[in-house]
Amino acid sequence: MAADKAVELVKDGMKIGLGTGSTAYWAILKIGELVRAGLHIQAVATSIASEKLAVEQGIALTPLERIGRLDLTIDGADELDPQLRLVKGGGGALLREKITAFHSDRLIIVADENKVVSVLGAFPLPVEIVPFAKEWTSEAIERLGCTVRLRREDGGQLYRTDNGNYIADCHFDVISSPEQLQKQLSLIPGVVEHGLFLGMADLAYIGRASGEVEVYRKQGI
Ligand code: A5P
Repeated sequence: MAADKAVELVKDGMKIGLGTGSTAYWAILKIGELVRAGLHIQAVATSIASEKLAVEQGIALTPLERIGRLDLTIDGADELDPQLRLVKGGGGALLREKITAFHSDRLIIVADENKVVSVLGAFPLPVEIVPFAKEWTSEAIERLGCTVRLRREDGGQLYRTDNGNYIADCHFDVISSPEQLQKQLSLIPGVVEHGLFLGMADLAYIGRASGEVEVYRKQGI
């Protein structure tokens, strides 16, 4: 329901970023339905999985070098607070998601009510790191006050992102200052990108078990 509501913002002629994850999945399905009914859009995907899904749904993808700035991106989140600060990357796609969001006029989040928190941090913060010196990078991240677990596949081998990197899942429990943490993470060599999306989301459609969809807006919108 939240995804359907968000997709109402997609209009003919727009350039759209397609998010990743089990909630963004529903938005891609809905966009596919509209495209098959005649909607004309240009689209890019934030992961190989979403690329594949989009193509299956009949959504033609435009090469990045030809698309220019996007009108909007619809994506999920692992946690969001009432100020629309997000934790993303549970699905491992945070780097492409952040690049895509940065080049979008609007970032629209779709999520269920369980993702809304008053303080970020219960969900381990995903941080994409390069494979080289992963131990040093993990130790440097841990000095910021968390426990790092490198993400693994079910078979036990280290999980690789679409970009060939690792994900350090950082267990903070409470992130008291997301703004300070994002600066500190960005200063660590070996950190490619982190899953804190601050000041990026414009709107969030939150699906409630009651059947309602609540809208959260960035202040000033
Ligand atoms: C993908 O890397 C993530 O950022 C997802 O957007 C996020 O994990 C939400 O996914 P779900 O909708 O599957 O919970």
